[in-house]
Amino acid sequence: MPTQFGPDYVRAIAPYQGGKPIAEVAREFSLDEASIVKLASNENPSGMPESAKKAMLAAMEELARYPDGNGFDLKAALVAKYDVPADWITLGNGSNDILELCAHAFLQAGQSAIYAQYSFAVYALAVQAVGARAIVVPAKNYGHDLDAMRAAITDDTRLIFIANPNNPTGTFLPAAEIETFLAHVQSHVVVVLDEAYNEFLSADQQYESISWVKRYPNLIVSRTFSKAYGLAGLRVGFGIAQPTITDLLNRIRQPFNVNSMAQAAAIAALNDKQFLQQSARINSEGYRQLTQAFDELNLEYVPSSGNFVLVRVGSDDGAGARVNLALLKKGIIVRPTANYGLPQWLRISIGLPEENAQFIAALKLVLA
Ligand SMILES: Cc1ncc(COP(=O)(O)O)c(C=O)c1O
Repeated sequence: MPTQFGPDYVRAIAPYQGGKPIAEVAREFSLDEASIVKLASNENPSGMPESAKKAMLAAMEELARYPDGNGFDLKAALVAKYDVPADWITLGNGSNDILELCAHAFLQAGQSAIYAQYSFAVYALAVQAVGARAIVVPAKNYGHDLDAMRAAITDDTRLIFIANPNNPTGTFLPAAEIETFLAHVQSHVVVVLDEAYNEFLSADQQYESISWVKRYPNLIVSRTFSKAYGLAGLRVGFGIAQPTITDLLNRIRQPFNVNSMAQAAAIAALNDKQFLQQSARINSEGYRQLTQAFDELNLEYVPSSGNFVLVRVGSDDGAGARVNLALLKKGIIVRPTANYGLPQWLRISIGLPEENAQFIAALKLVLA
């Protein structure tokens, strides 16, 4: 037997499965890269903002130097936007970094973290990586059951993850439900409110989670530049919490966890209201386009508040994998969700109108 390295809980981790890269699908299925449509990673189909490109070109001149490890300028831009002091902000290498930092800072072996069934895969990874116990609370209508999550808290619970909207199901929790939850969670349990898709919420769904951070010292809100801001490849996100939390995250983060190009691009994107509005508009139009097609095809889907839709493509547990493979052969990359316990479903990221149309045409052929 070869030597086994590392603790059991690390060996037990199932690696994160991301969306397949376009180049890989082109190689595997002998397709032209230019013909491939990728609707698999909830990226921004409009690409990155021009304003961010310009900022990056300027930042390129300084790449021989380390980034500003404290992200002074980006924090200043966030301070101006969210009206919180700079020491309430933690920058992350993507918001995944913030989620992982929380697991490292607030959990240890012998303690537990709570998250919902069908919720973002990184919660499970982050909890397992520190040897803590996961309490997975059954979903209600594919979303979080906050009453059940509150009831699941045990003496050793130290961390709770809530995604709003949730990935991969797109479900949304109204503000009042979250507020009631926060008011009842014990103050020594840290709540991570993961708002990676917040910028896609409709006007009637929007709420002020940052004002909750001012009231609840055990709350951290995480956001990202990967989705509506169109900067997924740069890896930049942030968390907002009171200094008792940020101080701990700051102790364990890598000193230069956000690179200088990412910082420069994020400042530009944050202030590019036009790009953000356009992203939200393209998304809501794409949502209508996809869901109309699902209705025509009589396919069940979960109403989504994010930039993706979970759709049931068959009634047997091989359906998701089968339809996914058939779509790949036609150059359409979507996301299978069997690893989430949803083998009959696929998650489709909302694309540009022509990308959505290509996907819908391929889906019709595959299901015919
Ligand atoms: C719910 C949720 N949180 C966080 C993330 C992490 O995104 P990033 O690390 O790119 O900020 C994602 C990405 O898919 C997500 O779906």
